[in-house]
Amino acid sequence: MLNSDQIRAHFPALASGAIFFDNPGGTQVAQETVQYMERYLYSHNANHGGRFHTSRASDAAIAEARLAVADFLNAARPEEIVFGQNMTSLTLHISRSLARTLKAGDEIVVTRLDHDANIAPWLLIAEDRGCTVRWIDINPEDCTLNMQEMEAAITPRTKIVAVGYASNAVGTVNDVKRAVQLAHQVGALCYIDAVQYAPHKPIDVKELDCDFLACSAYKFFGPHTGILYGKYEQLDQLTAYKVRPASNYPPTSLRRALKALNPSPASWVQ
Ligand SMILES: Cc1ncc(COP(=O)(O)O)c(C=O)c1O
Repeated sequence: MLNSDQIRAHFPALASGAIFFDNPGGTQVAQETVQYMERYLYSHNANHGGRFHTSRASDAAIAEARLAVADFLNAARPEEIVFGQNMTSLTLHISRSLARTLKAGDEIVVTRLDHDANIAPWLLIAEDRGCTVRWIDINPEDCTLNMQEMEAAITPRTKIVAVGYASNAVGTVNDVKRAVQLAHQVGALCYIDAVQYAPHKPIDVKELDCDFLACSAYKFFGPHTGILYGKYEQLDQLTAYKVRPASNYPPTSLRRALKALNPSPASWVQ
């Protein structure tokens, strides 16, 4: 049985006696998360890719976080994990890269059950590239997605299908695996918003076979960070929307970064 007192002890915010019902605003942060961030900021705050100790420590921390998230999402490799400000920023960012692969007449499928973070970026690129947007409605009687409509809307013209795993408004859990299958049947990509699903149920991106999946660590006791899973070949193929000195490749040199530091960042938390 879960020992709730023991669990509560990990969250100093709860010691005040306050009761938090503000899930969309994010969860309270666990003590270990704060300790880790404090240790990083006080001792290892440095630029990426340097040969000096704090830079290597910094790279090792990022590498270890990628490994942890790859494990959390069951990604095939840690290079498939990208961190960003939040899910919205990551989705806007990756949508800019995907926009470059689209042409007028291509189609993008979005749903009326999704959070705007998984709608607006696709509407914007559709407008920029002259693409048609196909909307999937909900079944009003039970707030599920109309999957028949999705089947009909996905055609050989479809290039991107954007769908939420769990609704922030009504809690519906969608059959995203089916959405991925429908998208792949016509050669389209499937982008899954798992922000509200990730805190509740295990995610297996290999099993889903999705191309992209985004969630937010601050919804499950972590720092205010967004997480993007991208299938390696997709991240590798896309032209990054970036400043010139930044790499165009998926995150690399993880093993080197981890080897460079002993003890590993996991030991930072006492
Ligand atoms: C389903 C869903 N998607 C996306 C977002 C946006 O996430 P973020 O705040 O990380 O941009 C939210 C925020 O609550 C959400 O509930």
